[in-house]
Amino acid sequence: MKIRFTVNERQHECEVDAQTRLLDLLREDLALTGTKEGCGEGECGACTVLIDGRAVNSCLVLAPQVDGKSVLTIEGLAQGEALHPIQQAFVEQGGVQCGFCTPGFIMSTYALLQENPSPSDDEILTALEGNLCRCTGYTKIVEAVRTAARLLQETR
Ligand code: FES
Ligand code: FES
Repeated sequence: MKIRFTVNERQHECEVDAQTRLLDLLREDLALTGTKEGCGEGECGACTVLIDGRAVNSCLVLAPQVDGKSVLTIEGLAQGEALHPIQQAFVEQGGVQCGFCTPGFIMSTYALLQENPSPSDDEILTALEGNLCRCTGYTKIVEAVRTAARLLQETR
């Protein structure tokens, strides 16, 4: 079947099978490999993208479900060479080690800060509970989210 949708503000028209996962459509058909596959079962959050502003696990979404919708991936955040403030905050605060989980954390953070520009630590932890990191111990990630919130407020 044919679907039309927007990814990072660009229109796409793709021929997909009913069972194609959004994760595979992004990575294989559109070469947007910033979105990672960890568990493939909705447990790790490495594949998080936004659909119409809501953070979802793209391994659990079928391509036909995004017909007519707008998808934002990690590739849609930086402006040319300039990192998005959330990316900048993760780098500055040491919230990135191996980096495998990072796109997912950043997309979940993006969704959180759109909805709640000044989250408490508890709200940050709740928003990120679907994202797993094997490396950082989370403290630096929470610090990165706090820093990102501050940076975004300064640019508003
Ligand atoms: S790969 Fe989608 S949640 Fe782990
Ligand atoms: S930085 Fe390695 S899994 Fe999170």
